[in-house]
Amino acid sequence: MPVTQAREIAPAVRLEKVRYAIRDLASVADEVAKQGHKILPLNIGDPITFDFQTPPHLIEAVYQAMRDGKNGYAPSSGVNEALLAIRGEAARKGITTVQDVFITTGVSETVDICLTALLNPGDNLLTPCPDYPLYSAVLAKLDIGLNAYYLNEEDGWQPDLEDIKRKITPRTRGIVLINPNNPTGSVATRKMLEQIAELARRHNLVIFADEIYDKLIIDDDPHVAMAAVAPDVPVITFGGLSKNYLAPGWRIGWGIASGEASGIKPYLEGVNKLLRSRLCANHPEQYAIKVALEGPQDHLLEVKRKLRSRRDLTMEWCAETPRVSCVAPRGAFYAYPSLDIPEGDDVFVTELIRQKYVMVVHGSGFGQRPGTKHFRIVFLPDEKTLTSAYSAIGDFLRERYR
Ligand SMILES: Cc1ncc(COP(=O)(O)O)c(C=O)c1O
Repeated sequence: MPVTQAREIAPAVRLEKVRYAIRDLASVADEVAKQGHKILPLNIGDPITFDFQTPPHLIEAVYQAMRDGKNGYAPSSGVNEALLAIRGEAARKGITTVQDVFITTGVSETVDICLTALLNPGDNLLTPCPDYPLYSAVLAKLDIGLNAYYLNEEDGWQPDLEDIKRKITPRTRGIVLINPNNPTGSVATRKMLEQIAELARRHNLVIFADEIYDKLIIDDDPHVAMAAVAPDVPVITFGGLSKNYLAPGWRIGWGIASGEASGIKPYLEGVNKLLRSRLCANHPEQYAIKVALEGPQDHLLEVKRKLRSRRDLTMEWCAETPRVSCVAPRGAFYAYPSLDIPEGDDVFVTELIRQKYVMVVHGSGFGQRPGTKHFRIVFLPDEKTLTSAYSAIGDFLRERYR
């Protein structure tokens, strides 16, 4: 007799805490697409979807690696020539106390491994609000509650230092700083980095410095690496090929561990245990790391030129549009305007897709201060697409809120 499956298989309860705002909108977008409308996607942080291409010399290096037979497993921390190139990059970033470097399947895996290696039940980790949802998803997976600190819109979205101080508890193990920031596009000041480093020193915190957008500083002011201003503090700096080098599909990221050697060593043994248990990151793609970091950087000029023009267009639209105001993004490719509307930003975003076929993400999906409303724009599309999208959002605001 064949056995039939009678009961539903329920997912783990802790997954209820996993938020992914874009998913909430997917069904609305499907509905609109089925009616034959083309959606203007201002929600996708993937440059390759728009007019950006992976630099050809990186593609060549991966192709060559495959032809050279680099198709087996790689060492768990990564291939040597790539690790050396990342150490060189750390030196250029001013990080002088490197204790370890490791390559992972995107920064997403670096985050997963580094948080898993640190946190025990009952511990907490300070994460920014608004946040990039990966952090809260990993914490949910570990059954660790969120301890979110606010970014301060009135202060150009710099971290709210007083809020961080208030939220540190005896069980706080670390703090995440995304710089340049997703979703606000802010870039942290040196003074802010120094103040956060001082708190980390005083409370024995690990700093997770997510610097995946560090070469996409739109106005050419220098990016200051957290680990460079805090050489004695345990810092894991995250970087990768997804954004700076326009290769998100290759899934190559890395962590640079720095700080005073004896303090960070036991933690790094934990990180390496997890690195070994998942075998390795993608192998042939690791051969693009050296040529990316040490080869021509011309693509960055072109990328930044496009981002500057698209950011400026975005800011002009925000300035002239009633009910919208926005802190100018200084890095990455996100803007996070605030909305003055009488209903929730989730309703705004859903109706915008339904009525004008423009897709942005609601601020409540990233977390925000109570009583505030926002939406995130990805300003990667070309000027023509952005202009049509902004004109449609402007019409929507006028028609819906008068
Ligand atoms: C702040 C931040 N960190 C990490 C990631 C994930 O990077 P990766 O593609 O290397 O996994 C993203 C992707 O959008 C991001 O915005």
